[in-house]
Amino acid sequence: MPHEPARMRTSYSSDFLYTLTTDELRMDGFRRAMATHRAKRVLEIGCGPWAPLVKLSLEASAEHVTAVEASPAHAQMARKQVAHYGDRVQILSGRSMSLPTELLAEQEPELLVAELLGYTASKEGAPAILADVQHRLGPLPTVPKRASSYLAPAQTLEVGLYDSRNFPEDLHLAEGQLWEDYDFECLEKQKPQANNEGSLQEQLQQRKRLTFQVPVGSEVGGTLLWMQTELSDSNVIDTRRDFTSWNQYYLHLEPQVVEDGQLEVCTAVDARTEDVTYEFQVGQRKFSVV
Ligand SMILES: C[S@@+](CC[C@H](N)C(=O)[O-])C[C@H]1O[C@@H](n2cnc3c(N)ncnc32)[C@H](O)[C@@H]1O
Repeated sequence: MPHEPARMRTSYSSDFLYTLTTDELRMDGFRRAMATHRAKRVLEIGCGPWAPLVKLSLEASAEHVTAVEASPAHAQMARKQVAHYGDRVQILSGRSMSLPTELLAEQEPELLVAELLGYTASKEGAPAILADVQHRLGPLPTVPKRASSYLAPAQTLEVGLYDSRNFPEDLHLAEGQLWEDYDFECLEKQKPQANNEGSLQEQLQQRKRLTFQVPVGSEVGGTLLWMQTELSDSNVIDTRRDFTSWNQYYLHLEPQVVEDGQLEVCTAVDARTEDVTYEFQVGQRKFSVV
């Protein structure tokens, strides 16, 4: 997984971001999530140049959308995209964390929307960004509601050409297990939920020790990493199962043979800022993304 600082994520090309708007599964998931909430006033973080989620919000029920966009060029393009909605849409240029609370809160949003999900749940900084808005504006329902990342030990990838949205199924040596999980609606003042997780603020640093049973004597070449998001209740996209514009990662490590068939994997994520760091220890091999 390459390190991609926050400043690079805000310079995604408008062509690349256009392809996201043609991902029907993704767009339909967001459309259904917006329809569920029927919010009149929406705040979006990261509307991109095409502002597709602003349009979906207005089509669903919104009377007003405030959208924040960190890239000045994208913000300018987004303004053109939504010009015909007049004063029903306001595009704010800047990084959400640097904008004054009064500006974000001006229209009294009822729903917080942000598609800041990468190939993993935290990679684009969604946990820190949403925790900051939730902290400053008070409890808001969110779309997506939650996001998590999964990991499965994988065989050594043979030399070849692979579509990173569609790695072969038989690459898996065991079922995937969850290694990071964010409930974007679980705020400081709320009690931990059924699965005993902490508030969103407390979720920003996560460590997991996972044990996988792999075939005895098998060679582990690395791990597959992917993301799952619940956009609204029972409206789930899993980037390993579903064919979407989100890629999956193959984390290549030097191959190792697991003699007893038991592979231990330790993960550590620090998502307290937009520049998230990761550590993976897979059996004898270590890998950091900082
Ligand atoms: C993955 S794109 C999503 C664009 C659009 N919402 C969509 O769903 O197609 C994320 C956008 O969020 C912007 N962004 C990332 N971090 C941000 C932040 N902290 N504040 C405001 N915008 C941000 C990026 O510049 C980029 O345009």
